Amino acid sequence: MTPFGHAPDGRTAQLYRLENSRGFRAEVTDYGATLVRLLAPDARGEFADVVLGFDRVEGYAGHDAYFGATIGRCANRIAAGRFTLDGRTYSLAQNNHPPGGPCHLHGGRRGFDRVSWSVDEGTGSESRSSIRFRFRSVDGEEGYPGNLDVEVTYGVTEANALRIEYRAAADRPTPVNLTNHSYFNLAGEGAPDALGHMLTVAASQFVPIDAGLVPKGGLAPVGGTPLDFRAAHRIGDRIDQPHEQLRHGAGYDHCFVLDRGGAGLALAATAFEPGSGRRLEVHTTEPGVQLYTANFLNGSFAGKKGHRYGRRSAFCLETEHFPDSPNRPEFPPVILRPGETFSSVTEYRFSAQ
Ligand code: GAL
Repeated sequence: MTPFGHAPDGRTAQLYRLENSRGFRAEVTDYGATLVRLLAPDARGEFADVVLGFDRVEGYAGHDAYFGATIGRCANRIAAGRFTLDGRTYSLAQNNHPPGGPCHLHGGRRGFDRVSWSVDEGTGSESRSSIRFRFRSVDGEEGYPGNLDVEVTYGVTEANALRIEYRAAADRPTPVNLTNHSYFNLAGEGAPDALGHMLTVAASQFVPIDAGLVPKGGLAPVGGTPLDFRAAHRIGDRIDQPHEQLRHGAGYDHCFVLDRGGAGLALAATAFEPGSGRRLEVHTTEPGVQLYTANFLNGSFAGKKGHRYGRRSAFCLETEHFPDSPNRPEFPPVILRPGETFSSVTEYRFSAQ
């Protein structure tokens, strides 16, 4: 554990190191329960940090790209920041301003990415492979009903996987949709773009969006569109095609509906970077994955080691329930009720060839 700078609430953020016996390593901070570094070997055994971010917590607190953070209470967009639950309408923080009008994004102005989490006693020792963060989101926070107790556990496995487990319980019915917002570049953070990665996404359908990046309603087949990643494609091959969905997203910014067979961990996506030989497999218990190709990064600020992260210099694979689910009865439900436990697991498995 090492000090990582000062969080806006005055607390000293801490950085915790998780590693396995092969040198695969994750570093996480209690501010935002954020993944800060992830060191994975290439085909020659050389390690590089494959996630974008900052060298100190002040960077995370000062920008709204959500680098590596835990996102909640509801990840992704909620139309007009409003939903009705059990006959009552709730107004959430409207912290995002796309062309279609303001909406709620990633939990609001002070979402789970912008709070200091506590660390479970017993998972704070020097040499460890996992750590558990806890946070209580109080009734009314960002407009959400009920107190919500959340746990996020990060672990590294001997097989070079980063495993993230989420659990939550509430004292009133409330929507919950948790994810991690890491930006990956398998050539190493700081590489100029991520367009050469070969990507597959195990999805035959996606959630179409309007010009405000909010779901239009229903699902659409990927077949015949530039969103078909059932067979591997370079991320950059079709990203600028004149397709309405790519125009709305300014690139890929879409939730894919995973072709999963039953419950449990299922393969969501794979990414392979030919230069380094690094390969990432994302497995999840969630029904969807948001592919976001960092279309809004523009090199305007300095990240780790002074690197300026340009447009499309990384990709996010945010495992989650679908956007705007509280307003979409046709989507898998996100309402957590008292007495129930929300639980979800995502694994990022690394290899090289
Ligand atoms: C993504 C979202 C994007 C953008 C980004 C943060 O998860 O899909 O539209 O808001 O977060 O800049």
